Amino acid sequence: MDPQKIVVTAALPYANGSIHIGHLLEYIQGDIFARFLKLIGKDALYICASDMHGTPIQVNAKKAGIDPEEFVEMYWQEHQKDIASFLVHFDNFYKTHSPENKELAELFFSTLKQKGLISLKEIEQMYDEEAKQFLPDRFVKGKCPKCKAEDQYGDVCESCGAAYNTSDLINPYSVLTKSKPVLKKSNHYFFKLSKMSRQLQRWIKSHPLLQPEMVNFVQQWLDEGLQDWCISRDAPYFGFEIPNSKEEAGAPKYFYVWLDAPIGYISSTKNYCDANGKSWDDYWKKGDVYHVLGKDITYFHFLFWPAMLMAMDIPIPRLTVHGFITVNGQKMSKSRGTFFTAQEFLEKFDPEALRFYYASHLDRKVIDVDLNFTEFQAVVNNVLMGNLGNFCYRTLTFAQKNYGEITKTAAEPQLVSELEKLFVEIKQNYQDMDFKTAVKNIMKAADIGNAYFQKAEPWKKKENEAEKEEARAAVGFCVNIARNLAIICSPILPEFSRKIFSSLNQTGRSETSFRWVDLSFHWKGRIEEVQKLVEKIEELPQRENFSLSIKAGQIVEVKNHPNADSLYLMQVDFGSQKKQVVAGLKKYFTSEQLQGKKALFLMNLKPVKIRGEKSEAMTLVADDGQILALLEVDAPLGSQVSVDGLAVSEAEIGFDEFQKVNLVVEKGRVVYKSKVLKAAGKEIAVTSVKDGAKIG
Ligand code: MSP
Ligand code: ZN
Repeated sequence: MDPQKIVVTAALPYANGSIHIGHLLEYIQGDIFARFLKLIGKDALYICASDMHGTPIQVNAKKAGIDPEEFVEMYWQEHQKDIASFLVHFDNFYKTHSPENKELAELFFSTLKQKGLISLKEIEQMYDEEAKQFLPDRFVKGKCPKCKAEDQYGDVCESCGAAYNTSDLINPYSVLTKSKPVLKKSNHYFFKLSKMSRQLQRWIKSHPLLQPEMVNFVQQWLDEGLQDWCISRDAPYFGFEIPNSKEEAGAPKYFYVWLDAPIGYISSTKNYCDANGKSWDDYWKKGDVYHVLGKDITYFHFLFWPAMLMAMDIPIPRLTVHGFITVNGQKMSKSRGTFFTAQEFLEKFDPEALRFYYASHLDRKVIDVDLNFTEFQAVVNNVLMGNLGNFCYRTLTFAQKNYGEITKTAAEPQLVSELEKLFVEIKQNYQDMDFKTAVKNIMKAADIGNAYFQKAEPWKKKENEAEKEEARAAVGFCVNIARNLAIICSPILPEFSRKIFSSLNQTGRSETSFRWVDLSFHWKGRIEEVQKLVEKIEELPQRENFSLSIKAGQIVEVKNHPNADSLYLMQVDFGSQKKQVVAGLKKYFTSEQLQGKKALFLMNLKPVKIRGEKSEAMTLVADDGQILALLEVDAPLGSQVSVDGLAVSEAEIGFDEFQKVNLVVEKGRVVYKSKVLKAAGKEIAVTSVKDGAKIG
């Protein structure tokens, strides 16, 4: 055993999209922990990689018209840049599409096979005869067998939440070609997970450091009984081909992405160790490994991966699960305007502001963390800047301006013992990954410093030599507190700490140059001008709203308005609700032309009574002066129309407000301020009217 050697990992981001503020919660959480371990002198490695395999990547690369190899390489580069810009330091950020990972995946597979844990079975799956490929659940859509909502995925209905088998979908179609999939048989490899139940049970029961919520989850899964796990996929698949599969299974098979992805933790460690004269198993077999991951991938990390490791005689890592990021209380979503990529966030805020905010919300509980921008501003301005930043900045600036050098520090045994007690607690908080409490305790220490400085009033003490000396010593003591705070905060605020250290003419530029053992109340030395430590958040960038709530509905009934010759009275189906709509369309359409049409309706207009009949929504039309057209769409009923980057507001508006929103047809699509409106991700096209037509 070697308690000095530690690997910390974060879950490998798919090389299929940009890093966003949700990923960053995890990468920052792991980074704080890894930096802390280095701070206390451990030989710790923070390890990650891009997760490069799987159907979505293969399909998206194809859509982009480039080889998957090139596609994932592009994201690999981007991931590293984005992650580093948030001061997250991975000792190695490798890739799963690598020779090391291939070799290890094959070793895992052959070992499992030797131990009788792999079986080959014939199964039936959805197959797209046009695309000539098997379809994973998410690539088949159709009507929900339960609530009959259109356009639902093959595994769960997003409308009613029901889970079902893909083959139960009504009118299923392939997302790839829109053709009707057929069931087709083929051979697949299975990992006999059930054989590992007893061992998994023992592990879960005997591990005191697992989060209790997680233990409950896993216990439930174990009680329900474990199914064998299919670990192979058919071509075309971007992944590693399983050795001998062509002979054994009748066609080449590939390792399912979730087989080789966690092995990526080891292969990334190995890649680092090989390059640095170290050995990966010193860490994985003799040291300690900590996995940090999100709650959505617990099944893989608490069952499949431990079972694989047990079979390989590799100890099971310690697992820490975090919840999800929500933004202003809502799920992150592009259409709501609550989705921020790492780059978008960086355009507006300092990376350490996010690190500090996340740290002050993270403890060992598996709960979601809300990034509420009002709170974010308050935490950064009042706590980070107002307390911690202010103390350090004021102290160092005062010391530099008045003395230029610290030659003595006041003896304050009472305060020293209080602070040292806090430091011990903070160390334990970090060790427990309870960063929330660590931040609270750091603030208590800064409070002590602030109060002391305030009470000492060094700016007043200029009367005689004795007073001046007293002031000097008091400031010296404060500088020591600031220096200690820099050391202690460095896992959360590496740049903040570096600036303090550089004003003290000490190094502090690399991950390992801060050391807990350097905490002291006797530091003396020269002081240079200190750089600004924290950027104040003056105003929150206002996300522009899209004030119209427009939804897709189907006209299910058209009647003449009883009291008006030019009006129709229509019933419109919006999936979960039906509404009555009065429309002045008689001049333009017969009722047959309207009947059954799927089109767009304005939902948040103040309801009105028109000639005695209520109208609960407004039919939207495009009008170029000659032709009037409905905005027909092919989207699930009830789909909300979105505009990229804008948050849709469903608040009620008046007709005059509606008229101020300028919606027009441009290049055959409906646009708002040059941004294309979309329903269910698809652009809204109107081809029968001329460009420039107004929507009303
Ligand atoms: N590739 C897999 C992980 C393989 S690990 C062997 C994967 N990738 S991911 O890109 O979807 O997610 C990477 C990590 O980011 C996961 O731990 C996931 O939980 C986390 N998060 C992704 N979105 C998140 C939020 N909105 N909030 C917090 N964490 C989130 O899963
Ligand atoms: Zn349903």
